[in-house]
Amino acid sequence: MNPCFYWIDRPVSFRPGETIAAALLRVGIADLGPDGGQVRGRVFCGIGACQACIVAVAGEGPVEACLTPARAGLRLSPQPSLGLRHD
Ligand code: FES
Repeated sequence: MNPCFYWIDRPVSFRPGETIAAALLRVGIADLGPDGGQVRGRVFCGIGACQACIVAVAGEGPVEACLTPARAGLRLSPQPSLGLRHD
């Protein structure tokens, strides 16, 4: 049985060496943001350049899901919006 982390309250199993983003996408979770993925909250570049995939790790802070290796027991959620305007 593969280890798992939690996206909000949903357990997500991952394979050894997988990033958080890869594991989430593999199970069909593509919307990572608090705004329905409209402005950010998507895996876009996949190489740590765009910051669109930032998620909150309970007890640790924000991380880039596309770069951060999955670890058993992580509690992840959308990163709260900073209230920035994009006019
Ligand atoms: S998808 Fe661009 S930094 Fe993660």
